[in-house]
Amino acid sequence: MTQTLSLWRNANLATLSGSSSWGWIEQGAMLTQGETLLWVGAEADLPIDQAPFITHTHDLGGALVTPGLIDCHTHLVYGGQRATEFEMRLQGESYEAIHRAGGGIRSTVAATRAATDAQLLASARKRALALMSEGVTTLEIKSGYGLSLEQEARCLSVARQLGKSLLLGPVPNRRKNDIAPAAGLALPAAITVRTTFLGAHALPPEFEGRSDDYVDAVCAWMPELQARGLVDAVDAFCENIGFSLAQTRRVFETARRLGLPVKLHAEQLSDQGGAALAAEFGALSCDHLEHLNPNGVAAMARAGTVAVLLPGAYYFLRDTQLPPIATLRAAGVPMAIASDHNPGSSPGLSLLLMLNMACTLFRLTPEEALRGVTVHAARALGLKDRGQLAAGQRADFCVWDVEHPNELAYWFGHNPCQRVIVGAQERIL
Ligand code: NIG
Ligand code: FE
Repeated sequence: MTQTLSLWRNANLATLSGSSSWGWIEQGAMLTQGETLLWVGAEADLPIDQAPFITHTHDLGGALVTPGLIDCHTHLVYGGQRATEFEMRLQGESYEAIHRAGGGIRSTVAATRAATDAQLLASARKRALALMSEGVTTLEIKSGYGLSLEQEARCLSVARQLGKSLLLGPVPNRRKNDIAPAAGLALPAAITVRTTFLGAHALPPEFEGRSDDYVDAVCAWMPELQARGLVDAVDAFCENIGFSLAQTRRVFETARRLGLPVKLHAEQLSDQGGAALAAEFGALSCDHLEHLNPNGVAAMARAGTVAVLLPGAYYFLRDTQLPPIATLRAAGVPMAIASDHNPGSSPGLSLLLMLNMACTLFRLTPEEALRGVTVHAARALGLKDRGQLAAGQRADFCVWDVEHPNELAYWFGHNPCQRVIVGAQERIL
């Protein structure tokens, strides 16, 4: 079967490909075949030999087009919420103190364990739809609120199910907001979900005082979760309220034996030397990094590890320690931006707001911020087939009601996303 050849014309493209500013192409066009970009360039240079085979032409009305956005760090599947802890923090209680008193991550673990699969799926679906309304086409979801083999498997399965149940429309016999497609219809997915096993997120109550035993358990569950097809990467929370460097190393060694890539919640609240350890294991990314030291930066640069910056957590925890942006930039470490959506440190559901915060709080340029949710976010997930508008990449892209890409980091509390195309098909939510 020959695949449809479509022309998408009359757009200004921020391709983020090549070395020019924004990878800018004025009055550009794209040819897609199947789910893939076949050609991207100035409309005037459209390859003449392809023209007779074009079956569909889409006029994008002179709008701005960017790659689909990628949220490369979220904890989207959980039960309950932590607004009361927010109030406690506003009264002066610290995030760490709340955690040590048995609240924090552990209160979400209790709420998650108490929730049914259907409740977890329904709440995660609402959150995913909110992110998708702003152009997110690829989403990473971590476990870490189950903390037992079956509960972690359940949360990862919900994440997988979410990816399979959010489908492209419009489709015959499908009502708006239907979770499942009508029987017999095989529909393309509206989003790619990548799952990360974060068993080493916190110590569950049944392992109180036995953190090394818990790390043994996490390592023992990993092959089983992998065999069930639930794990794309492995993460850990290396922190004084999380797991030690030695414990993180054990988690990474198991991941390496299984051929699973690693990522790390590193240097969020203190400098543990986690980033250098993660770099030693060729980590895809180190995330947070407020307390990252120059050694860690150098190690990440050598290993090609992405720095995932999470301005939502910095903002919501009212942090004052900035990640070492200038040092990361000077060392050539690619910087990604993500929502870190979770109920404790970053309950936000707007990746566009994160672009704005990355600029206002972290002093990234608007172009760095956009690269952070496209090309560098793809790299933080180990995905080579997306993040740019270029031949061979997936045809995931967003059409924006703005004139210039710097506006994506400029407006806040406003969503200029007009259309989202996934695998060369219109996404209707
Ligand atoms: O990325 N730091 C650890 N994990 C999450 C927060 C989890 C929570 O507070 O529930 C984060 O900030
Ligand atoms: Fe996180």
